[in-house]
Amino acid sequence: MLDIDLAIRGGTVVTASDTIRCDVGIKNGKVALLAETITEAARTIDASGLIVMPGGIDSHVHLDQPSGPDVTMADGFESGTRSAAAGGNTTIIPFAMQVKGESLRACVSDYHRKAEGKAYIDYGFHLVVSDPTPTVLNQELPALFADGCTSFKVFMTYDDLVLSDRQLLEVFDVARREQALVMVHAEGYDNIKFLTERLEAAGKTAPYYHGPSRPQVIEREATHRAISHAELLDVPIMIVHVSGREAMEQIRWARQRGLKVYAETCPQYITLTEDDMKGLNMDMSGAKYVCSPPPRDTDSQKAIWEGLKQGVFQTFSSDHCPFFYDSPRGKLNEKGRTSFKWVPNGLPGVETRMPVLWSEGVSKGRITMNEFVALTSTNHAKLYGLYPKKGTIAVGADADIVLWDPNRKETIRQEILHHGSDYTPWEGFAVTGWPVMTIAKGRTVVDDGKVVGAMGAGSFIARDKSPYALPAGA
Ligand code: URP
Ligand code: ZN
Ligand code: ZN
Ligand code: ZN
Repeated sequence: MLDIDLAIRGGTVVTASDTIRCDVGIKNGKVALLAETITEAARTIDASGLIVMPGGIDSHVHLDQPSGPDVTMADGFESGTRSAAAGGNTTIIPFAMQVKGESLRACVSDYHRKAEGKAYIDYGFHLVVSDPTPTVLNQELPALFADGCTSFKVFMTYDDLVLSDRQLLEVFDVARREQALVMVHAEGYDNIKFLTERLEAAGKTAPYYHGPSRPQVIEREATHRAISHAELLDVPIMIVHVSGREAMEQIRWARQRGLKVYAETCPQYITLTEDDMKGLNMDMSGAKYVCSPPPRDTDSQKAIWEGLKQGVFQTFSSDHCPFFYDSPRGKLNEKGRTSFKWVPNGLPGVETRMPVLWSEGVSKGRITMNEFVALTSTNHAKLYGLYPKKGTIAVGADADIVLWDPNRKETIRQEILHHGSDYTPWEGFAVTGWPVMTIAKGRTVVDDGKVVGAMGAGSFIARDKSPYALPAGA
């Protein structure tokens, strides 16, 4: 006999490919048995009426990141992974962000220390390359890659992070050689700087003007440029946090040319608009919604839905980048009050990502349950070297599972969330569909909103190289 530790009984198992009425048997933290009925198990969970899905994998999360002298991030690994688990996630991939002048290896060691013993769920690290010195390119990146950090992010904007075209090419070249997946933040630095100075000169400094300082054409231009660099070197790239139609057109164009260009979008681009940054009469409360690229308009939201439906987007991530609102070290820092350009960019959203997509997508009939699983879990695992250990419910996979009540109605409110931030951009947002239990490696981490898992139960996952990072011409 199998000696099943835990049986999840009576639910409907939904994966990226199938919808099956069956029980799930778990042993030693892994899925050991899928059967019509499992009668013998040390412990049983009744999942009747519930959807049993692979736990969410959020491949775009920022935790405990250095954010300059004036600002502190609102989540480290403890609250960040707790909040993620409460939102139905069982794995996250945050960034180990290199500060210019710092060794990337030292930076990753830092992040291991920040995460060690703190995480409720498993995690990996993407590397952020902000200072591609010869040592970083030729020694550190290959070594860190071998240690299981098999993806890098590069930025085309932000004073502290921006890479020149030449540097982008150098990083892309290493990625090609190492079969690492490069994630690109595609917004053009000079264009933003130019518009920002013009807006400031005209006295337009409220948070709202963050949007006009980086319109879609700037995102489109950078997306095109990144794609061209990728074509030049024949290296696959992932364009992250795509906000609307213009960048999508570039991605479609690239694919028609046979290029391996993947794309990600986020909850803010289907639910928020630039008008949210107006706050109340253009006051500072608009800062709550300041992120980059900025939320656009309702036409862009429609475009993003088309992209989710048509396969333009492989992943739907939160881009959880949490700051406090009402704090001198958060959105309302002293400099932030003088210009939008000093308002830290980013939104807390790791806990609300899955409910928002389920409610707006599945409950409203825009995407299927299977597409939901692909967008929130399976494709993240496949693209970032975690599959099939994670991202599906199959014999031998980690027992990372979320029990989902498709009919449960909730109103998102700060008071029910578990993140460190003091607000949610989705305050008052009504959803249908909610995670009722999160199980990671066979252990219950969150039960009906209550965190019952152990801090430190989550561990670092050394990821495999991404099969999607193979050059097209390889
Ligand atoms: O505004 C955002 N998205 N902040 C997070 C950093 C990034 O660019 O992903
Ligand atoms: Zn560091
Ligand atoms: Zn970014
Ligand atoms: Zn981000």
